[in-house]
Amino acid sequence: MTQTDAKTPRGDQFQGDRKESGNTMKAIVNTQYGSPDVLQLKEVAKPAPKNHEVLVKVHAASAAAGDWHLLRAQPFLMRFMYGLLKPKHTILGAAVAGRIEAVGRNVTQFQPDDEVFGDLSACGFGAFAEYVSVPENALAPKPSRLTFEEAATVPVSAVTALQALRDQGHIQPGQKVLINGASGGVGTFAVQIAKALGAEVTAVCSTRNVDMVRSLGADQVIDYTQEDFTQIGQRADLILAANGYHPISAYQRALSPKGIYVMTGGSMTQMFQAMLLGPWLSRNSSQKMGNLLAKPNQKDLVFMKELLEAVKVVPVIDRRYPLGETAEAIRYLEEGHAQGKVVIKVE
Ligand SMILES: NC(=O)c1ccc[n+]([C@@H]2O[C@H](COP(=O)([O-])OP(=O)(O)OC[C@H]3O[C@@H](n4cnc5c(N)ncnc54)[C@H](OP(=O)(O)O)[C@@H]3O)[C@@H](O)[C@H]2O)c1
Repeated sequence: MTQTDAKTPRGDQFQGDRKESGNTMKAIVNTQYGSPDVLQLKEVAKPAPKNHEVLVKVHAASAAAGDWHLLRAQPFLMRFMYGLLKPKHTILGAAVAGRIEAVGRNVTQFQPDDEVFGDLSACGFGAFAEYVSVPENALAPKPSRLTFEEAATVPVSAVTALQALRDQGHIQPGQKVLINGASGGVGTFAVQIAKALGAEVTAVCSTRNVDMVRSLGADQVIDYTQEDFTQIGQRADLILAANGYHPISAYQRALSPKGIYVMTGGSMTQMFQAMLLGPWLSRNSSQKMGNLLAKPNQKDLVFMKELLEAVKVVPVIDRRYPLGETAEAIRYLEEGHAQGKVVIKVE
């Protein structure tokens, strides 16, 4: 067991082109904002865990829409949080799965060799690298029946879907739940979580994804290239908007009188309408409308672990890329047509 209290903060480990062995690792580094072209595979200092941290040997990470938003600093407001002129965090990657290599002296929950998964977005990112040091609370034991690649798909997308449906959407068994953007990273988990929580699920996706989304358990699938779900007179008790765009008034029309609309993603206009108009519409009607910003937490990782181990939820992996091709993975994700999750293979 290694016990150390290193001074090097994660994200400040960039060491140019220096090549060393032993205390270095490969990482995907971004020292400036921009397109995926700014991402470079570099040799950087291997982090050491502080007292409350564990050092994780990363086996897999997954890419999420948040990665390209951060990379490009879009929307611009992100710069106030993540660095005005250049990125504060120079190694991205939030969703991680790996094996613990060393623990800091105050760590109580894990020991070397434990298999873990977690979301690093609240503690500095860093999953696009061979190693990352993170507070133990950012992690949970990896679901035993999942591979590292499968486990890495869960922490950001599934927990977002869970918090949207359960915490903000107050999902109840038997309710009619509609998921718009059902074929992407968040949507494929949302369909399965809603089914696992007893809802009757309508999934909205394009023609090529209809069969895939039905195989995840959706009771009804609406092909958005053929039909507009806001125009067909059906009303849902809960709508999760994970992708696409409809005016908030159209979502309101597709909601039952006491329905709840939760926006987690999609176009910027959809986001600003949910943030700015949602609270006002909620005050002036019996419907509740708004956006959700997911908050990583250990409890929800454990909740998902149980659903995954019970095979009530199964990760959908579209593509896998080696660490050195992370830029390609993010370019693909940015096109907006991923079917499930995009995984970065590290180990
Ligand atoms: N609020 C939070 O805390 C939080 C957390 C995670 C993610 N997000 C956000 O959530 C959004 C979705 O994330 P994600 O990981 O699911 O993205 P994603 O995996 O990139 O979504 C891609 C999927 O969206 C579908 N899609 C594209 N246009 C659509 C449309 N008009 N209607 C319905 N489906 C459409 C695509 O299928 P087709 O091309 O075949 O339609 C594809 O399967 C992003 O905006 C992301 O930034 C927010």
